[in-house]
Amino acid sequence: MSSCAEARQAQTCRAIARYKMVGEGLAASWGLIAVSLSVYHLIIAHMCITLVHLKRAFPFIPPVIGRLRKPVNPKLTRRRFIKGVIASGVAATSTSLWYSATGADRPAGAVERLLSINVNGQVRRVDVAPQETLAHTLRYKLGLTGTKLGCNRGECGACTVVADDVNIYACSTLTHEVKDKAVVTVEGLRAADGTLHPVQAAFVAELSPACGFCTAGQVMSAFALLKNNPRPTREEARQAMSGNLCRCGAYDHYLNGVMRASGQLS
Ligand code: FES
Ligand code: FES
Repeated sequence: MSSCAEARQAQTCRAIARYKMVGEGLAASWGLIAVSLSVYHLIIAHMCITLVHLKRAFPFIPPVIGRLRKPVNPKLTRRRFIKGVIASGVAATSTSLWYSATGADRPAGAVERLLSINVNGQVRRVDVAPQETLAHTLRYKLGLTGTKLGCNRGECGACTVVADDVNIYACSTLTHEVKDKAVVTVEGLRAADGTLHPVQAAFVAELSPACGFCTAGQVMSAFALLKNNPRPTREEARQAMSGNLCRCGAYDHYLNGVMRASGQLS
């Protein structure tokens, strides 16, 4: 082969090698692009699925997610939602809030949160969590702080109130249990003109309160006793008041007060 032919062949070989390199480079970059696009789509698909599930789990989450799907229950308005969380709703589960919006499609066993309770002769509308105690509702939702919290576990009687003429520990009673009862707290005893109830007046006359922390509970137990037994013996009164502890030890003064209120001590 002549040197001229060899030079041409070598040139051709170099050209072919260059084309090969360019071809491989293009294939590699297209492959990379294809892989990145797949990963990108995969991520987008996962995000969409996550958002849809979030929307299902928390239907009240507003617009951005809400637009992905039609709301499950269009009756859930902002006003209803706020009603559902008034005063304590932070701890509420999204499920109970959701169903409180309509009531009609509430599942069996779900508890109505918005209650009407009769307290001191007035019907009060209040949002109550299923596990909420009456003492909590009275003190922190209705502002009736005359009901004291001592032990908060049914031992001291400081939280005593009366429901349908029976004295109960408000710290150990669920508010939902009294929704059909007439509840009376110490605030409900005084007359509209400010006159003290006979039990309160008798306790004042007998100097019953010392520090006064147990007094509201003592008053309510005495009130319930005299409703059911207007002229108790001292022993009956002692029994009836035995659920109310007094750290100041003013028991005899309270008993004297009960006897005075019943008209047996002057
Ligand atoms: S606070 Fe309720 S019994 Fe003590
Ligand atoms: S008066 Fe103080 S605890 Fe009863």
